[in-house]
Amino acid sequence: MSFFGSNRFKFGLFGINCSNGMTPSRAPERWRAEWPEIVQVAQMADAAGVEFLLPIAKWRGLGGEANMWGRSFETFTQAAALAALTKQAGIFVTAHVSLITPAFAAKAIATIDHVSNGRAGLNIVCGWNPDEFSPHGVKIDGARRYDRGLEWFRIYDRLLEGGPAFDWTGQFFDMQGLQTDPLPLQKRPPVMSAAQSGDGQAFAAQAADVLFTSVHAPERVGETIAAFMGLAATHGRQPEVYVETQLVCRPTRKEALDYAHYYAVEMADPDALAYFARQKGRTASTSTRTGASEADVAIAQGLEQAGRPYPGIFPGMYPIIGTPDDLVSEFARLANMGVAGSTLVFLNYLQELPYFLDEVLPRMERAGLRQSSLS
Ligand SMILES: Cc1cc2nc3c(=O)[nH]c(=O)nc-3n(C[C@H](O)[C@H](O)[C@H](O)COP(=O)(O)O)c2cc1C
Repeated sequence: MSFFGSNRFKFGLFGINCSNGMTPSRAPERWRAEWPEIVQVAQMADAAGVEFLLPIAKWRGLGGEANMWGRSFETFTQAAALAALTKQAGIFVTAHVSLITPAFAAKAIATIDHVSNGRAGLNIVCGWNPDEFSPHGVKIDGARRYDRGLEWFRIYDRLLEGGPAFDWTGQFFDMQGLQTDPLPLQKRPPVMSAAQSGDGQAFAAQAADVLFTSVHAPERVGETIAAFMGLAATHGRQPEVYVETQLVCRPTRKEALDYAHYYAVEMADPDALAYFARQKGRTASTSTRTGASEADVAIAQGLEQAGRPYPGIFPGMYPIIGTPDDLVSEFARLANMGVAGSTLVFLNYLQELPYFLDEVLPRMERAGLRQSSLS
């Protein structure tokens, strides 16, 4: 089933709440996460029929010259604000489930769902950077984070059933008198899981309506999705799969390639990515440590900077670079492999989103991948 309407290929604006968005680049025009600009791009995307807005949950930056993510707006509170400032897009919260209780999340999601008239969604992230959690006095355990996350989800999900107060005694949580009111307007606001390892996919297969994942080997996306869907089916679920895409779109291919080269090669911020690789390695999932799946092997390889053509594009983020027609061809290829949608990520959202909306969306309609946002 789809939570976000009937378009064959859907889009989510990703990362506007954080400085640098998703781009580890030192280019001076990089995204600064100024609130008025965040509102402007959110409203622009909303009016154009972009399906959802998806923030990044962050508590510190990656260092390096740009200190990517050093500035970030908290995702529950900004979702409530954006809910009031937009009309149709789904409004996701990205929640570190190690930092909040299921009861808090159930109440906060219900709040956003009422403010937005039924547009809230919860993106569950289990965390990877120990330095982000130490200011909260919390430790991340790479081997058990998804087991804990699954128990967290089961409590959250049961809370949203409504009904009388219940107690919960499990492996990780011991809670009494669980109950929430109001319930969300949507029976179950969509749950997304942003994960990529084998362990992460096993979690998503049990908890998520949407798996939001990375692309390490584009030609193998179809296989990865088929395997994931097979796993989800064993749990009686039929989630959708979205992937991370970063876009550089210009009238000519040369202009697009030159701009990508400028900001993601010449102006890449290697120190940020070196820190990312180090920290992510510290909490690698068990499946990644053992190379359990193709995705796990790719994660380990992706953390090595050597040989990556665009070091200023995040590992696992699939770059689509070219003319509006080139982008549409690539989205069609992803759709044909079973991908339900992907992210809109730009170096500078305000500078680049208008061209994308004006030139790519009408072509998506003509290609049968989307319907007009006016229909
Ligand atoms: C597409 C995507 C988006 C993510 N967004 C966030 C985020 O906003 N905040 C965060 O701390 N981690 C984020 N993560 C990290 C995951 O939640 C997870 O903790 C990390 O990928 C380690 O799990 P893995 O073993 O599945 O790779 C994201 C991961 C992916 C693949």
